[in-house]
Amino acid sequence: MKQMRQARKLVADSARVVALTGAGISAESGVPTFRGHGGLWRNYRPEELATIDAFERDPETVWEWYAWRRSFLGTCVPNDGHRALARFFLRRGLAGLVTQNVDGLHTRAAREEAGDGSPDAALPVEIHGAIARDRCNHCGARAEAEPLGDSLPRCADCGGLRRPDVVLFGEMLDPDVLARAQSMAERADLCLVIGTSAVVYPAAAIPLATLRAGGRIIEVNTEETGLSGAASVVLRGKAGEVLPELLS
Ligand code: OAD
Repeated sequence: MKQMRQARKLVADSARVVALTGAGISAESGVPTFRGHGGLWRNYRPEELATIDAFERDPETVWEWYAWRRSFLGTCVPNDGHRALARFFLRRGLAGLVTQNVDGLHTRAAREEAGDGSPDAALPVEIHGAIARDRCNHCGARAEAEPLGDSLPRCADCGGLRRPDVVLFGEMLDPDVLARAQSMAERADLCLVIGTSAVVYPAAAIPLATLRAGGRIIEVNTEETGLSGAASVVLRGKAGEVLPELLS
């Protein structure tokens, strides 16, 4: 396929590659996406439930949903797309992985692919947080998640209500984490945009930082997105099939 040849050449010719992933890369692990075909989370609309207002009004319901998502995600494993990216970044070093996903599958793939070595080069910058961690809604202290008991978890430091350490709708991203992702994109000469509908900002602007700095975009997605027109090469297909071929 001509596009695949062009894309492989772009990867080979690039000195610094950044990747931005979204829910689509985890679709083949059985994790539902938010939008697009099959994008449904147990009949809930995340835009209504995963909000800071909902948490402050009715933390039990929001917690119940996240506890269910945690247990569901516990049954999912990284797929060939996560693994191909992990191997690529472990090999290339001068690069970086940014994800909007909170599912922890990139981290698991990095650890598995690194074996006895260090997984650091393939660990993602998680701009929307990590569902497997808790954070105090009052003082911000982070804590390891525990199974939900009869009462909602409280912060060991200040007694405030704990919540999953993810960005809820209506909240800002952690400015330091976002700045790190943006600077990785600015310094890259190639941005791989994988499995994201590119409609949620500021994440969707990250590939534009690479473009503005004179770099290129390769999009990997089963469907067209608002970023497709800005991409030098578009690879239409499933991340778990496209990435092993693109990055081998
Ligand atoms: P979306 O659900 O909006 O988009 C998923 C994208 O993946 C769509 O463009 C699909 O076409 C594509 N896709 C589906 N299956 C695929 C596959 N096997 N291979 C490649 N592409 C595939 O997910 P995101 O763009 O990640 O935010 O959504 C962005 C943010 O919106 C999420 O991080 C979340 C949500 O609200 C927060 O929770 C803060």
